[in-house]
Amino acid sequence: GAARTAELPLEGRHVVITAGGTREPLDPVRFLGNRSSGKQGVALARAAAAAGARVHLVAAHMEVPAPADMEVTRVETALELRQAALQAAAGADVVIMAAAVADFRPAEAAGTKIKKRDDAADPVITLVRNPDILRELVTRRSEQEAGPELIVGFAAETGDAEADVLEYAQQKLERKGCDLLVLNQVGKDLVFGQDTTTVTILDRDGSEPATVSGSKDATAAAIIERIGSELKPR
Ligand code: CTP
Ligand code: CA
Repeated sequence: GAARTAELPLEGRHVVITAGGTREPLDPVRFLGNRSSGKQGVALARAAAAAGARVHLVAAHMEVPAPADMEVTRVETALELRQAALQAAAGADVVIMAAAVADFRPAEAAGTKIKKRDDAADPVITLVRNPDILRELVTRRSEQEAGPELIVGFAAETGDAEADVLEYAQQKLERKGCDLLVLNQVGKDLVFGQDTTTVTILDRDGSEPATVSGSKDATAAAIIERIGSELKPR
């Protein structure tokens, strides 16, 4: 018979990736947002698909289009992203939390446009905390003794020295309880606006952190390759 082609690293795996930045409404025309472009999440989704995975992208606001050849769920707020991510994670082998999730949302969104008035005080916005979706994914997995084999978190940290950044990332990895944490190094040595990024992958076992620099596509491919190597062979 025909020679069997070498199996791709994520062949037969179901990968859920959250990407982009959530938007928390203040009123029908305004929101609290963040600067996430979604580019890294989309690069990861493409790299995972190229590695043979069935990819489900849970996309908050992005400045780039979602790939056409995969399942995409659009969300706006952190609460919507939570629901979509938890639901999608139920049948997934890997969940990658690349989205920038708002830590807080306005306690209430006005039903009508907030108007400025000369006869009333300026508004004060009260924020309430959003649930930590990554922690919830980890907690659910341990409670149910079922769930994704690998849960991957992201962190963008700044620091005065690389050691501080890594230390901060290590603490985040422990606090979140995820299996891998990908640190986006945005320190002072790294020039903004360049097309190259530097990521460091930390794992729960405390292995030596692995740093990769290159284009967003190259770093995404390296992250996906590492994820593939962490999965138990079938
Ligand atoms: N995350 C999440 N739910 C939130 C906030 C963050 O799932 N409500 C996820 C992000 O998608 C990311 C990881 O947690 O994968 C780390 O996000 P980050 O904002 O760096 O961590 P926080 O715990 O929110 O800490 P910080 O106070 O530094 O923002
Ligand atoms: Ca945060």
